[in-house]
Amino acid sequence: MDSIVIHGGTELNGEIPIAGAKNACLALMPATLLSDEPLTLTNAPRLSDIKTMTELLQSLGAEVTKMQDGQVLAMSSHDLDNHVADYDIVRKMRASNLVLGPMLARLGHAVVSLPGGCAIGARPMDLHIHGLEALGAEIDLRDGYLHAKAPAGGLKGAQMELRFASVGATENILMAATLAKGTTVIKNAAREPEIVDLAQCLRKMGAQIEGEGTSTLTIQGVDSLHGATHPVVTDRIELGTYMLAPAITGGTVECLGGKLDLVASFAEKLHDAGIDVEETARGLKVSRRNGRVNAVNVTTEPFPGFPTDLQAQMMALLCTADGTSVLEETIFENRFMHAPELTRMGANIEVHGGHATVTGVKRLKGAPVMATDLRASVSLILAALAAEGETVVSRVYHLDRGYERLEQKLGACGARIERVKGA
Ligand code: UD1
Repeated sequence: MDSIVIHGGTELNGEIPIAGAKNACLALMPATLLSDEPLTLTNAPRLSDIKTMTELLQSLGAEVTKMQDGQVLAMSSHDLDNHVADYDIVRKMRASNLVLGPMLARLGHAVVSLPGGCAIGARPMDLHIHGLEALGAEIDLRDGYLHAKAPAGGLKGAQMELRFASVGATENILMAATLAKGTTVIKNAAREPEIVDLAQCLRKMGAQIEGEGTSTLTIQGVDSLHGATHPVVTDRIELGTYMLAPAITGGTVECLGGKLDLVASFAEKLHDAGIDVEETARGLKVSRRNGRVNAVNVTTEPFPGFPTDLQAQMMALLCTADGTSVLEETIFENRFMHAPELTRMGANIEVHGGHATVTGVKRLKGAPVMATDLRASVSLILAALAAEGETVVSRVYHLDRGYERLEQKLGACGARIERVKGA
């Protein structure tokens, strides 16, 4: 297995292009299942999760052609010949469950494996199931698979309120509702930019949707959707991660394509920590002023709050802050697995349930580390950039799920970072 070796302590200066959003692309790709006309996505990120979704769609009979080095995905679901999303693919990636709503709406039936345990918590699917049941679907769990069936006349519009503003459930229900008969209203819908991007793409395909970006989505069902071309929105989590690079090492980095409204609550916390964030014509320019960063308290929340997917990276920054910070994780249980690894690099962190108390140290020290999920892994990369000496991060396949050309992007700004090929 590959590892990444970093010699820390170098200030970063330069520019980093930010890719299209993994999480938006993973929701946009299954939208192809809703139409028999082609859907083309531009600005797609080149990541292993996108490859997994490609395999899943192909297993259902969709055609997915990569163009322009994988940045353009041309998809067609003209001839779907399978309605079973197999465990072997779904277990690799929870977002595979996003084929459920579209298949149910277009074909009237779908069989989708439950994703199974996840390193960052239980992550059930009850909200997806209840939402689709409200549209008239019958859903049973048999042999680890959800067997879903639409009523004889197809799905029917309904009013519903989600118990929690789940991103995945909102996406699944939204996609299914585009082809349901009548009006669907989803209250307490997720407001993430990835939902807005999906709604905008579906609208280009002929869907009638109002309210994206607010807590109430109203969808007027249509008989069929047509083809479209859509650019994937900027990845706000990749953006936030690279904004933290100069914050942790010192220096100035311009994140190209970044926009403040994608990361407003995160940028506010960076400001409190003493980091300058400036919106430019090309993106976001981030600079670290002299001296140590300030301690700040952070609570993760659904958008527009502080994203859970930036909590681990923010913790890496706060490990060297002047003072004590408290990070509260409210979205996922068990999402502090990076804390023991950061501790091995000299950090002072105490975890109690959903809270982590981080008392800053002057300097982290390099060490061999590994992590069990994507964002935890990249938090170790950030810590390593600031640490004294060498850090070897193993289990790099987690990083490849969410960060394209990570070594090149950081290396271009002066980081001493290289990938070592494993057996
Ligand atoms: C998406 C993102 C993920 C991000 C998360 C929260 C994708 C591909 N992934 O994941 O990176 O961390 O949003 O911003 O977009 N829940 C239930 N029942 C359900 C569904 C969810 O209880 O049916 C709970 C989960 O266990 C979790 C919380 O709701 O505690 C948030 O989950 P959700 O918003 O659904 O996240 P995902 O869509 O899985």
